[in-house]
Amino acid sequence: MLRFGLIIGSTRPRRFAQIPADWLLAAAADRTDFTLDVLDLREADLPFLDESFPPAMLGGAFANPKANAWRARLNHYDGFIATVAEYNHGPTAALKNAFDSAFLEWRRKPVAFVGYGTTGAARAIAQLRSIALGLEMAPVRSEVTIGLEPFIAVQNNEKMLCDYGYLNRACTALFDDLVWWASALKAARKKLRVVA
Ligand SMILES: Cc1cc2nc3c(=O)[nH]c(=O)nc-3n(C[C@H](O)[C@H](O)[C@H](O)COP(=O)(O)O)c2cc1C
Repeated sequence: MLRFGLIIGSTRPRRFAQIPADWLLAAAADRTDFTLDVLDLREADLPFLDESFPPAMLGGAFANPKANAWRARLNHYDGFIATVAEYNHGPTAALKNAFDSAFLEWRRKPVAFVGYGTTGAARAIAQLRSIALGLEMAPVRSEVTIGLEPFIAVQNNEKMLCDYGYLNRACTALFDDLVWWASALKAARKKLRVVA
């Protein structure tokens, strides 16, 4: 069984991020091909990167214990999903910092993005795809973009994300895509003995 981590990418009080996170967890509960655990950046409480040297120079080691705890958790997973808020047309600083606060643990694993906001956080997701490539991850093609209408309707408690058929279908496609890439890359990592 594959193991995926769900990164809640906003740490703001009253964050919207909790809503897509709960929707994804409910949808994942019906799947028999993977498990989905929450990796909440609020709980991880990562420092803003305060390492004296870039992780690439230190073989992926971090001096800060909280960054090391984050790395150790990531190591258990075959792939990741991140909820993506858009702050000033980019990803949240907390999410970028979370990617910076590990190194080898991301490598050769897939990642998928679920964005929300006026444009479904499409601009932030585009930036995150590039960041993921910098970490040698495989950003999967499928994504969920919760655009203006559902974003407002859900925020106003007029609707729930699961009321939107096209979002449910996008979620299923994203899960399927992640499973394909996670299976392929897990087998390749095992065969080639590159990163656990
Ligand atoms: C600093 C900041 C910048 C924002 N910039 C954008 C933006 O560029 N595009 C957008 O669609 N929404 C923007 N918003 C609105 C967010 O989409 C909205 O607040 C959303 O709820 C943020 O996600 P969160 O509640 O999970 O943190 C911004 C919000 C904040 C706090």
